[in-house]
Amino acid sequence: MPSGQYDFVVVANRLPVDKVGTTDDGEPLYETSPGGLVTALAPVMRSQHGAWVGWAGAPDESGDAFDSDGMHLVPVELSGQDVEDYYEGMSNGTLWPLFHDVIAAPEYHRHWWDAYVRVNRRFAEAAAAQADSGATVWVQDYQLLLVPAMLREQRPDLRIGFFNHIPFPGYEIFSQLPWRRQVIEGVLGSDLVGFQRRSDATNFLRACRRAAGATTRGSSVHVGHGGEGDGHRAVRAAAFPISIDARSFEELASDSAVVARAAEVRKELGDPDLVLLGVDRLDYTKGIRHRLSIFKELIEDGALGDKQVVLVQVASPSRERVKAYSDLRDEVELIVGRLNGDHGTVGWQPVHYLHQSFPRNEMAALYLAADVMLVTALRDGMNLVAKEYVAARHDDDGVLVLSEFAGAADELAQAVLVNPHDIDGTKAAITRAASMSREERRRRMRALRRRVKEHDVERWAQEFLGSLQGRVGARDGGSGIESGSGERER
Ligand code: G6P
Repeated sequence: MPSGQYDFVVVANRLPVDKVGTTDDGEPLYETSPGGLVTALAPVMRSQHGAWVGWAGAPDESGDAFDSDGMHLVPVELSGQDVEDYYEGMSNGTLWPLFHDVIAAPEYHRHWWDAYVRVNRRFAEAAAAQADSGATVWVQDYQLLLVPAMLREQRPDLRIGFFNHIPFPGYEIFSQLPWRRQVIEGVLGSDLVGFQRRSDATNFLRACRRAAGATTRGSSVHVGHGGEGDGHRAVRAAAFPISIDARSFEELASDSAVVARAAEVRKELGDPDLVLLGVDRLDYTKGIRHRLSIFKELIEDGALGDKQVVLVQVASPSRERVKAYSDLRDEVELIVGRLNGDHGTVGWQPVHYLHQSFPRNEMAALYLAADVMLVTALRDGMNLVAKEYVAARHDDDGVLVLSEFAGAADELAQAVLVNPHDIDGTKAAITRAASMSREERRRRMRALRRRVKEHDVERWAQEFLGSLQGRVGARDGGSGIESGSGERER
């Protein structure tokens, strides 16, 4: 296979921009794609001048590579059937719920799997065509678990990294997957596999032993049977917690127009005493239903005293053709409607529900306007909203209530940590956050901000790529990760 011209290639299901239509002059119209992956990787790509291989977000969208915002973007075409079977089906009807601890029931369909294999091959071929000889290729997330091995088969000269943005489940759950061995062998085409939390890396190493009969030692998986140079390789699996471009977010939130907008938001909400905020993709992993039920109880119990309280819930549209998502939307909207119907008055409502996506500056204003940020996901790889809230609070104010089931909880220990399944515990945490002294809020927020600013997305990329290219060690330390072999179970 002839090589391309890029030294650095990112392969992700989505391009950082989605094609949303065409202008009157027939020019394509793009919008930033949703989700944490794009939020994190776009600034890294701009600094690396690499190529980004991905889907433009609409079916049957072909087209030539183009440059946008300092990035070279290479679209991969998906037919309507591919979108149904590979994206909505295998990626978001099987792997997403399975990897998020079966919060929704995963479905297993052989035709979804066939499409997944076919589309992964297409991504691998597109990446191989862009990569120069000896280039670094960084494959992203659960939609492309087979790409590393497919790429290695075509281009053994490449250095291949894989990053799993979502949790990696315990083996008792992962082993449900009928294609568990193929998935593990796919990922093991990489030289380095990155996860959000150490527990994800540990779960993966165990799956390598159990599903693929591999031998592991510390954070290394041994692949192949012969000795060195005889097709034998060591693949490392370690935690590299992802982050955001904290400095640019802080700068944005410090802009006087954004600060003024934050004050205006509070006014538009009716100058309440307390503003609670939730910001999520409308996804069942985010715990939005639980949060609304908890808020309802808080209002009904009068636990927040005679304060006038408002919950702003931004729920950006996501995967709307997948049934679990359209069902969730119906349920959430029913709960919000009832809550406002039962507890609102003319001119005032307790929940402001926004089924929309907003530009970054409006998000920054919302973060500044919120007294308490509720990140109460049932399961989440990292949750970059938590980090954005912290980066935005240049006033060292605001309280973050954070689920211990979000990867961010490993790093953000000064947040008020909650188990969102524990209704009374979460209610008590919100009540505590709402009445916390200015001094304690400042102390916690300062510590959170130090962490987020020191461990920003640039550092994340540097540590992962440095480790992939053999320059620096990852923070796995080897300890806490079991070693073993010969556990294969079929
Ligand atoms: C999460 C996933 C990403 C995904 C994003 C948006 O952050 O880890 O891989 O791109 O959600 O979801 P979508 O299905 O719209 O790409």
